[in-house]
Amino acid sequence: MIQPRAVDASAIDASRIDAFELASARLLMRPLTSAYLAEMVDLYRDPEVTRFLAPLDEPGHRRRLEESERSWATCGYGRAAVHERSSGAFLGRTGLQYWPEFEEVEVGWAFRREVWGRGYATEAARAWIEWGFDHLDVPYLTANIHPENTASLAVARRLGMEALREDVFHEMPSIVHARFRDSRA
Ligand SMILES: CC(C)(COP(=O)(O)OP(=O)(O)OC[C@H]1O[C@@H](n2cnc3c(N)ncnc32)[C@H](O)[C@@H]1OP(=O)(O)O)[C@@H](O)C(=O)NCCC(=O)NCCS
Repeated sequence: MIQPRAVDASAIDASRIDAFELASARLLMRPLTSAYLAEMVDLYRDPEVTRFLAPLDEPGHRRRLEESERSWATCGYGRAAVHERSSGAFLGRTGLQYWPEFEEVEVGWAFRREVWGRGYATEAARAWIEWGFDHLDVPYLTANIHPENTASLAVARRLGMEALREDVFHEMPSIVHARFRDSRA
């Protein structure tokens, strides 16, 4: 499967990426572009945040952000930066990412440690699951989670995801979780 496009992707051409915003009760989510390099480097500076993530140096972040921009420009979605609505502060990243090795679209979540325990990851991912099923022709969305990442496994549970298979993701063991379109509440 090639990367699915959002049904109205033409409405999000490259020049208008900056205008896209997805809002939830407490959060504002915007396309994760190269403008977020400093925030992403800082997010990944915390070893607790990166414990179960693939390590990324600054050039790696640059590549990832360019990849996200390309995804937004060509397919109408990609990774997203999360801001707190009340303060505007950058809290972390979420959004949708197509993985060609699995031919699946994943909903991601990684937040700054000081805002864990507030329900932000679940709130952000729920908004993206809803958006994904509204705009993408996919039967399910995934979350690739390290078997020891209990905080992330709890997020998947709260989102009504189920374990689909064991796999290897970024050279680490992973339990691929899925939320099926038909299981939407
Ligand atoms: C995974 C990660 C995003 C989970 O963050 P989190 O804050 O624990 O998850 P949630 O946003 O769902 O918050 C749930 C917690 O907030 C609490 N909470 C407080 N206020 C809340 C509210 N208004 N609504 C919902 N939950 C609320 C819940 O009770 C729960 O607390 P508990 O874990 O003590 O039971 C975070 O640990 C992280 O960024 N880890 C590093 C990156 C990473 O590993 N990402 C995943 C890769 S697969």
